[in-house]
Amino acid sequence: MTAHTPTEHSPLASLEQWEDDLLIRYPEPNAAQPEHKAKEEYRNYDDPERDTVREFYRLNHKYQTYDFVMEKEREFLKFDKKEMPVWGAMEFLNTLVDDSDPDIELDQLQHLLQTAEAIRADGHPDWFVLTGFLHDMGKVLCLFGEPQWAVVGDTFPVGCAHSDKIVYPEFFADNPDTYDERFNTKFGVYEPNCGLKNVHMSWGHDEYLYQITKDYLPEPALYMIRYHSFYAQHREHAYDHLMDDHDRAMFKWVKAFNPYDLYSKSPKPPVVSELKPYYEDLIAKYLPATVRL
Ligand SMILES: [Fe+2]
Ligand SMILES: [Fe+2]
Repeated sequence: MTAHTPTEHSPLASLEQWEDDLLIRYPEPNAAQPEHKAKEEYRNYDDPERDTVREFYRLNHKYQTYDFVMEKEREFLKFDKKEMPVWGAMEFLNTLVDDSDPDIELDQLQHLLQTAEAIRADGHPDWFVLTGFLHDMGKVLCLFGEPQWAVVGDTFPVGCAHSDKIVYPEFFADNPDTYDERFNTKFGVYEPNCGLKNVHMSWGHDEYLYQITKDYLPEPALYMIRYHSFYAQHREHAYDHLMDDHDRAMFKWVKAFNPYDLYSKSPKPPVVSELKPYYEDLIAKYLPATVRL
């Protein structure tokens, strides 16, 4: 594994910069701002924070190769790093403090609780609420020393051609897979409509948490966890040619989840101590006493 310089390791001041940028790319729909207008503005929008996010994507697109994903799967799917209760893992995640303004930003646990509480307020089943609460737990990868671009960012299939609907597609010019004929055709190492279960995605918090929870949660929950950052599909439909009918049915859930992830941020922080008993019960209903990371 190549060592990365500190700026290559952490181009973002905080992981939230990626999520804030998603909100610019996919603003909450309203009549005054048609979607195509938002897209134009996304390309034109320019400020220093924006350059940081661009740099983040440059590194992500350069280094997330097929071989890199294989290496990360071997490294992390052994789950030999830690074993802890889910709530403990959330507290562990919350030790991830960024350099950015700690007073203004909501911490990780607050984002997860706001997402889950918005799902609960809409009367969805309890496993959907639990999914909202858990969905970013895989970001603990950062605490194991992983570079930001191998934890967050839009995900995409590796082992086949990169769609030009992935954000900043021009940066794939620096990815060696672009010039490798095993990987640079439409289907690459895959068969047409083989189903996403056969497709390796770029490595990050989505796949990692899916692998941690896959034996315990209902399948729609697992799809939401595994593909919530796969914007090139759930927003742009760029990989229909790899999906099977089952994926198409399940992606209705991925799409249903996304607005809660993006648009549930409220400046009023949830009161963790009030909510903890409810979430501890939910965790106990679906998950084992401890999980292995
Ligand atoms: Fe996420
Ligand atoms: Fe999230």
